[in-house]
Amino acid sequence: MSMPQEGQSASSRTPAAARAATGTTLDDYTDRYARRVQGMTASEIRALFAVASRPEVVSLAGGAPYVAALPLDAVGEMLTRLVVEHGPTSLQYGIGQGTLELRERICEVMALSGIDVSSGASPEDVVVTVGGQQALDLVARLFLDPGDVVLAEGPTYVGALGVFQSAQAQVVHVPMDDDGLIPEALEQAIADVARSGRRAKFLYTIPTYQNPAGVTLTEDRRERVLDICERAGLLVVEDDPYGQLGFEGEAPAPLRARRRDGVFYLSTFSKTFAPGLRVGWILAPHAVREKLVIATEAQVLCPSAFAQAAITGYLSTMPWQEQLKTYRELYRERRDALLTALEDLMPPGITWTRPAGGLFVWATLSDGLDAKAMMPRAINARVAYVPGTGFFADGSGRENLRLNFSFPPPERIREGVRRLASVIEQEMALRKVFGAAAVRPAGTGTGAWRAGGGADAPGPDLA
Ligand SMILES: Cc1ncc(COP(=O)(O)O)c(C=O)c1O
Repeated sequence: MSMPQEGQSASSRTPAAARAATGTTLDDYTDRYARRVQGMTASEIRALFAVASRPEVVSLAGGAPYVAALPLDAVGEMLTRLVVEHGPTSLQYGIGQGTLELRERICEVMALSGIDVSSGASPEDVVVTVGGQQALDLVARLFLDPGDVVLAEGPTYVGALGVFQSAQAQVVHVPMDDDGLIPEALEQAIADVARSGRRAKFLYTIPTYQNPAGVTLTEDRRERVLDICERAGLLVVEDDPYGQLGFEGEAPAPLRARRRDGVFYLSTFSKTFAPGLRVGWILAPHAVREKLVIATEAQVLCPSAFAQAAITGYLSTMPWQEQLKTYRELYRERRDALLTALEDLMPPGITWTRPAGGLFVWATLSDGLDAKAMMPRAINARVAYVPGTGFFADGSGRENLRLNFSFPPPERIREGVRRLASVIEQEMALRKVFGAAAVRPAGTGTGAWRAGGGADAPGPDLA
């Protein structure tokens, strides 16, 4: 292959030739990307996470369930039978909507939290997806045009921010407190968006054991939020991966159990069974289901037949409710270990949420400390967390960090908090001596976990 001559434009060279000519690893495709790719940037924190996965680092940063607690031998035998006895179907293509058998099992799972026949749930209206993530992407494909507004809790799930950004939608955060989304703030946000001449299409919400804040929308607020959305003609996208992982009795019934119209219910087996199988689902209003199936066929043809058969086998032949109990007990013990360690070891002024379920605690620093700027020092001290900025589309969250308790065992959690507390104490001491510039990059505002205080727009960091 001949080398391009000097002066030849980058776009007329092959990318490899352009790289060879410039001797760089820079992205030669820059001028060819679609507009939606703008802003798809990997955060600098991603680089730190490569270091954070080293064994000497206590990682409170992940969001992974503790799958080692599964009865792996029994699961293995079930999977073997799927191939040996049912290979011709389990290894074959399937239909876009997902198998009827799995959709029936999914309805049984949803019925446990009150989404049942009386609330209009039927296998007909369930679409099986490749994890909860594809469910989110499908809803975005169906409803979002570039420039549309999505209302979402501040902070919210980082993977949802990525989906909305790809759809070129704009996220407007609605503040939360310890009781979840604040209804008055939702009304205010709806009014503000309308006043600005933009169009809000839906509210994206994780009402139960929220990721990343760990808080749960109270019973009373659930009704108010639904009423507000109904009055404003706003669809509700309810994301519920954690609802069955409560440690303190039953969670309030999902929004979908209260209203059948205008609510999309998304969930997944990633946190209650295993994320490696990548199976989630949407329960959609009947009129929309066909469009969802067309959209999913365009994306993935059909969800994995093998993964669906594995979930169906798990739900039909194994004691999955016992396993849920095992997960809950394990995570309750780890949540308690985290809360106790925070109580015992954190310096005064630092606050955190007290989740009644799920996988995460959300902490707030004081004195204008910056969790993102502090991250390299934390990694150096062999502890990792996710800085709060990853969970906001508007740069808020500098004072916050998300701490995971599902994966590390209790003694590692305590050791992680001990290391983190010592890093925070050092930051506080630095600030006392040298002022804010010592702990916060120049030009950044004081972020609060209640959205709206941010100055930069970093794009999502990590799930
Ligand atoms: C709120 C929320 N929605 C969706 C997902 C995606 O789940 P899945 O692994 O099933 O794609 C996650 C994963 O962490 C999540 O926290």
